[in-house]
Amino acid sequence: FGRRLVVLDKVDSTQNVAQQLALQGAEEGTLVIAEQQLSGRGRMGRGWVSPYGKGLWMSLVLRPQLPVGSAPQLTLLTAVALCRALRGETGLDIGIKWPNDLLVGGRKLSGILLESAAEDERLRHVVAGIGISVNLSEADYPPELLDKAVSLRMAAGRMFSRGELAAAFLLEWERLYRLYVEEGFGPVRLLWEALSVSLHREMSLRTPQGELVATPLGLHESGALLVRLPDGTERTLFSAEMGEPV
Ligand code: BTN
Repeated sequence: FGRRLVVLDKVDSTQNVAQQLALQGAEEGTLVIAEQQLSGRGRMGRGWVSPYGKGLWMSLVLRPQLPVGSAPQLTLLTAVALCRALRGETGLDIGIKWPNDLLVGGRKLSGILLESAAEDERLRHVVAGIGISVNLSEADYPPELLDKAVSLRMAAGRMFSRGELAAAFLLEWERLYRLYVEEGFGPVRLLWEALSVSLHREMSLRTPQGELVATPLGLHESGALLVRLPDGTERTLFSAEMGEPV
């Protein structure tokens, strides 16, 4: 992973470039990195602040031989890999907020966006987009994001090498992916739960049926979130378009 590296200066979104490469047959593990994204994409139609040279804006091409239903698990795996790599490199107490945001001190540091193409119920390719706010300073954010967003530099009070962070992430990703292919979702699920900051406290979650107050208990084998409702019953929520913290 990352052995084929496509390093670009300014792009609209590394997701678009990686998807084009995937359609043209790019091999698994191809990594697209840009200095700046002019229209970085976040989840749920949001944008992603991606100023020049200050972060890791990257997209990884995957070709998993897996059923379509594995996509949520791959998203969670990516969050675990990134969280472990960043904790190891920075020493910061970084946690995962359902489903795959990384937080430090309650503010968002990094986001993950998985986009997949399927064929005959199997994943044809997946593009895992990872945004890490590395060396941004407060002036790089729009004021309305300042209480919600943070960079590694702001949290740790020093700068970080983007190359070292990317290398640590790729190593961790490859290791976890191998574990996942060999042993299934179980080990990844336990790691996710251990790093999660979203469990065992009541919260408001957005679902297609409206807001739902529930207490997340852990992950289901499918990669859905298992929650307890106020009436004591349990149900699962997938992150795709539902179960987002409000
Ligand atoms: C989110 O938390 O909403 C997901 C953010 C994902 C951002 C990354 S940056 C690299 C890749 N290219 C994009 O346009 N988005 C992802």
